[in-house]
Amino acid sequence: MSADFGRHLLALNEIGVDGIKEILSMTDRFVEINERPIPKVPALRGKTVCTMFFEDSTRTKLSFEAAAKRLSADTMSMSVSSSSVKKGESVRDTIETIQAMGIDAFVVRHKSSGVPWQIANWVDDHVSILNGGDGWHSHPTQGLLDSYTLCQARDGEAGENPSLDGVHVGLIGDIKHSRVARSDVEAFTALGAKVTLIGPPTLMPPSVVGWSMDGSTVDISHDLDSLLPELDVVALLRIQRERMGQALIPSIGEYVETFGLNRNRMSLVRPDAIITHPGPMNRGVEVSVDVLDGHPGTVVLRQVTNGVAVRMAVLFLLLGSGVVS
Ligand code: NCD
Repeated sequence: MSADFGRHLLALNEIGVDGIKEILSMTDRFVEINERPIPKVPALRGKTVCTMFFEDSTRTKLSFEAAAKRLSADTMSMSVSSSSVKKGESVRDTIETIQAMGIDAFVVRHKSSGVPWQIANWVDDHVSILNGGDGWHSHPTQGLLDSYTLCQARDGEAGENPSLDGVHVGLIGDIKHSRVARSDVEAFTALGAKVTLIGPPTLMPPSVVGWSMDGSTVDISHDLDSLLPELDVVALLRIQRERMGQALIPSIGEYVETFGLNRNRMSLVRPDAIITHPGPMNRGVEVSVDVLDGHPGTVVLRQVTNGVAVRMAVLFLLLGSGVVS
């Protein structure tokens, strides 16, 4: 990667606006490669990427593995449920053991915030750490793929100078526990979007100072219905029930009533609005069972497709020699 990136991708605020834009511009090339009959290039031949997921995942883990394979890297994968972590081995011993097999990059997901940074301190100098989601804190590739998807919906591609200038994004739901929300706000504001966080007061973080990348204020609202007609992007988030130590909402039924995207609320959504969800989606909670399926601006599966290309761009910029082929 260019000088400012360093060796790792841990959080978007560490790579800055220029780093985010460089990755998104590079993603255009991998979107094109993924549309070829044989979506594979030799760029990372001889490199080995290991996914280390200490927490459940479908999309992120498979997407990183697909990305590494399409760049011709070898892949290895460790899931906690079938590893020696279950026998009491520490994260550090596990990492050092796998590193000894010859690894160029680890993709790490952990339920505790900060673990990817710790691991970055333990590995050898040539090894890259990519954060696949740490606790409530950060999920940089999700922020990148979400912002890429919005650029693509607006302009067809990210282009040389990706921008979301003039776009109003409403991030809706459990902001407090969401690492996606934090990385999305960084990525969207880096590209000039206006972001409003929408949800019940109990699911808002104590402060959002410092969340934006451009120093802009991130607004907070508890009134979804009055904002929906203004939003260019309706960005839904999952209620992170597994992260709620106590009852922060009176009941799921009440949440659905006030913040769930149901048929009535869909009539307030602009016909040209983009609707996103990082997945996994809890149909019947943040969104009614079938309302997304009929809306032309729903890009949920586009996000998944773009996720592979974004992760190819990140792996290529961190590990590659500069030649895509
Ligand atoms: C998210 C995550 O794990 O942070 N999922 C994902 O990576 N696509 C969001 C979530 O779990 O709600």
